Amino acid sequence: MRPLIIIGNWKMNGSLATNQDWVKTVARGMESGMPAGRQFVVCPPFPYLAQCSVLIKEYSLAFLSLGAQDASAHESGAYTGEVAASMLKEMGCTYVIVGHSERRQFHHEVDEVVAAKALQVLDNGMTPVICVGETADERNSGRAEEVVCSQVAKQVNVLQDRLVDCLIAYEPVWAIGTGKVASAQVAQDMHCTIRLQLAEFNDDVASHVGILYGGSVKPDNAVELFAMPDIDGGLVGGASLNPQDFLAICQA
Ligand code: PGA
Repeated sequence: MRPLIIIGNWKMNGSLATNQDWVKTVARGMESGMPAGRQFVVCPPFPYLAQCSVLIKEYSLAFLSLGAQDASAHESGAYTGEVAASMLKEMGCTYVIVGHSERRQFHHEVDEVVAAKALQVLDNGMTPVICVGETADERNSGRAEEVVCSQVAKQVNVLQDRLVDCLIAYEPVWAIGTGKVASAQVAQDMHCTIRLQLAEFNDDVASHVGILYGGSVKPDNAVELFAMPDIDGGLVGGASLNPQDFLAICQA
């Protein structure tokens, strides 16, 4: 049985003061217990990882893990501005998002780079959350499955059996930050397609890999999405900034 995993991606938001309030509010909300068989993760911007790591320990938030939004494809060296996976591990991260559509769009990250990042994350004992997804144009021209399957295939080629230790996040680009959530059925169909594709490679990988949905997940659509058989949780952007909304999604 795959656990339900909810990951909050703060993107480039937060401050020392608001982060403190967020963790405090989530800690209070989680105090009375959370549904069993679920995992929760928060991904703050790099400079706040240390603060959030300390806060999570201070509030004894056993339910909440720390994640990062990206990692370098390189181990170490002359890569100004980059952050190595080993550094994220040292800061207490257990999950790292790679290949988010905003990285692909604004930083021209291609599938090969995404796979190299995932390998670095795996080599450092953390779980990569590999993002895939089609744009509105690609969906409207009937190419959604082809595009997503090609992104997944490139990860399969490089990561092979190590995919079993990864998460995949299906995030249709047209649904990210737009309020236009994919219907639960549209999301389920794509998740099922991805799982069947993985099964062609290796049944064990297909049955173990968690496939999360991302794109305008909110408290009022989370229940329906998470009820789908191939949706194993959510990668939540905007709604994760509000601790009450994040809690509501975690409990959905
Ligand atoms: P959103 O972002 O929830 O704000 O649509 C999701 C994401 O980019 O991971």
